[in-house]
Amino acid sequence: MSNNNGIPATVGLIMDGNGRWAKNNGLKRGEGHTKGIENMIKITAHAFEVGVKNMVCYGLSTENLSRPEEEINHIYDLVIKVFDIFVTVFSRLKACVKYIGDLDRLPEAVRESMKRSENALNKFEGRGRTIYVAIAYGSRKEIVSAVNRAIALGKPVDEDSFLNMLEMPEEPELIIRTGGESRLSNFLLYQSSYSELYFSDKYFPDFDNSDFDEALAWYAKRSRRHGQI
Ligand code: FPP
Repeated sequence: MSNNNGIPATVGLIMDGNGRWAKNNGLKRGEGHTKGIENMIKITAHAFEVGVKNMVCYGLSTENLSRPEEEINHIYDLVIKVFDIFVTVFSRLKACVKYIGDLDRLPEAVRESMKRSENALNKFEGRGRTIYVAIAYGSRKEIVSAVNRAIALGKPVDEDSFLNMLEMPEEPELIIRTGGESRLSNFLLYQSSYSELYFSDKYFPDFDNSDFDEALAWYAKRSRRHGQI
């Protein structure tokens, strides 16, 4: 549900184009991801400041895990290295963090670092600001796991109770994808039934706060009828 001033409560962010940004700038792909993770923190902080309550950032898909080891290890190192700045920025904003995805597939050191950031920020749970970081995430897997949990409980579900069984129980009013592709790539397939989809040609490291504001302004002009007339 949008806030009164037309700001979406929940925004999904597909951060695509780090590799192409690096190539265009004569850098290694890993340097694109370094810029990407810094930008994720910057954009999310800005989103909270303008009134967004939940940011869902697609960090790494299950499919991305089969990229060359060097690239994946670089991203894992980033998640660990960014720990201090992440906690500092989101403490200031009184936001908590939740990691969603097949976390068992991640190395122990990465899981530990994620747990420490969750613990450091969990005092802000319920204060209205959450960054969900989707890592080793795939929406089909999330849905199938929820179906299996429902079967194990032996109770029929309805649309709302099923939503609450997913790892990300918020429905984004707006999903932004950078990098020029126009698809969801296995991101929030159940939760995005009524999401407005905004595609930017900019590579993620170049997508800045003013681009984010432009996406919000575009969203504010949408007429959201949810199938009604
Ligand atoms: C898409 O760019 C980006 C990724 C696959 C990884 C994104 C990672 C970050 C932004 C860092 C934050 C990550 C976490 C886990 C918090 P791409 O490599 O597909 O770019 P390309 O399409 O130009 O090759």
